[in-house]
Amino acid sequence: MGWIKMGESQPVKYWGERIYKYSCVTSTNNIAKDFAGAGEGDGSVIWALEQSGGRGRWERFWFSPPGGLWFSLILRPPVQNLEGITLLFSLWVIQFLEETLLKPLHLCWPNDIYMRGKKMGGILAETKTRDTRIEWLVMGIGINVNNAQFPQDLNATSIFLEKETCLDIECTLKELLHFMEQKYRSYLKLGFISFLPEITEHCPMIGKEVEIAYYRGTHRMKVMAIGEKGQLITLNRDNHREEITSAEKVTLMLPSI
Ligand code: BTN
Repeated sequence: MGWIKMGESQPVKYWGERIYKYSCVTSTNNIAKDFAGAGEGDGSVIWALEQSGGRGRWERFWFSPPGGLWFSLILRPPVQNLEGITLLFSLWVIQFLEETLLKPLHLCWPNDIYMRGKKMGGILAETKTRDTRIEWLVMGIGINVNNAQFPQDLNATSIFLEKETCLDIECTLKELLHFMEQKYRSYLKLGFISFLPEITEHCPMIGKEVEIAYYRGTHRMKVMAIGEKGQLITLNRDNHREEITSAEKVTLMLPSI
């Protein structure tokens, strides 16, 4: 909305200090990646009321009508690797919603937020690295908030449908950013591993049989744990341990959660 000059920006003092707001874009991640490439500072946010080409992992279409919360956060993390970062942001969104609004929510590895077996939100992380350095990270976050109608094949729900309350999207965005920033600061000091117990606690598939669809076909596996790098540790039918990283194209078909 309005005139925007890309690039040259300083890091913000706090997340949410600089929010670029749009009525409709194809994807806030696309805009955020362009901004990040042009030098936009750490902590800036791209927010849209609606997306015409919202994207999920593996270029799946992400339904983003008005009423939802669709935004992307630009980060320049001072770390060597980002293992588990999608799980972390999924956890923090869940914890924020559980503390302020509704529980229990579930984290379906590595990026899905579920309530009563229906999808309420998701996270799409995109990065640019140069040599071994992470140049930028764009965290795209989508939450079904006040939107209440979904295409039938989506098996989705929203905060409105679960709680029968309409939220102020802008306030929710700012509160969520504040919450996640505190968690992120703690992650930079303590690392991914310090959040592993909370991630595990929210992950209903641990100890369960799931179907995992790879490029190569569908396999039944038992999920044993989430590892120290955020990978899914499974046992296959022959009782062999297999580790699955979020870089692999995997779709989990869960038993009811
Ligand atoms: C997934 O479930 O696969 C991830 C969905 C991520 C959706 C958000 S909405 C804001 C940002 N812009 C996008 O195009 N995608 C993410």
